[in-house]
Amino acid sequence: MANTLFVGKVYLRFDELSSTNDYAGELLASGVSQTGNIHSKSKPAEGTVIRADTQSAGRGQFGSQWKSEAGKNLTFSVILYPAWLEISAQFHLSMSMALALHDAVSSLSSGALPVRIKWPNDLYIGDRKTAGILIQNSISGTDIQSAIVGIGLNINQLEFDPALPNPTSLALSFGQNFDLEQLDGLLFECIERRYLQLKAGHRAAIQSAFEALLFRRGVESFFAETVNGQVFAGIIRGVTDSGQLRVLTKQGERAFSVKEITIGMRDEE
Ligand code: BTN
Repeated sequence: MANTLFVGKVYLRFDELSSTNDYAGELLASGVSQTGNIHSKSKPAEGTVIRADTQSAGRGQFGSQWKSEAGKNLTFSVILYPAWLEISAQFHLSMSMALALHDAVSSLSSGALPVRIKWPNDLYIGDRKTAGILIQNSISGTDIQSAIVGIGLNINQLEFDPALPNPTSLALSFGQNFDLEQLDGLLFECIERRYLQLKAGHRAAIQSAFEALLFRRGVESFFAETVNGQVFAGIIRGVTDSGQLRVLTKQGERAFSVKEITIGMRDEE
């Protein structure tokens, strides 16, 4: 049982859904309350978690699929109402959720492999991806009305689709299996802590913690420009307030949005 104030207090669990993010979106759209009472007009409680043991159409970033072996991993979505966050600051929610994942996973790590955040919000152990986040915000004017934070964390899965570039799991990285029924609570606690830190206005602290944990920060890396596939060298320095990646290149510091570049590594080219 998670030691939280609101995250995971309403915990809706399913054997199978198409996508927990889609289910959360349907709950928000229909105004169905946490009790499942369709006649209630109350919206889902903040912190409501929807978890599925398997998703038939799990969604990843940029229209990709999120594939996860049934019962081996955590795939869930959290409903939040960060109405106090202006839309121009939405990347701060993304950073705080990536930090929450980092907090949880690094607390399990022996420290042999670094746990880092690959911009914009993937969790890496060593040079492999172990978790992804898909946030869907609903906007009202200049503010965020609701946010669906979808998290896929690979935990006990040992084999992955060979088409995936560099997946891993906690079991592969740390050499042991983990109890999903304990890890969910740990994640809910970390999510709540970082969310409340953001709500309390500590944006600068979140940004500097995030930047300090950026994968390949401060070392020469290679980037591919989406528009023409051109590869260039640079050193990641941090992020702008709006979430662009700041890279020191031969032409000086440049800032890129997620659609403009992908980060590679020497051995991937
Ligand atoms: C990524 O591409 O890195 C983001 C992956 C997010 C996957 C999670 S699994 C739970 C939630 N439901 C979805 O359909 N996607 C997110």
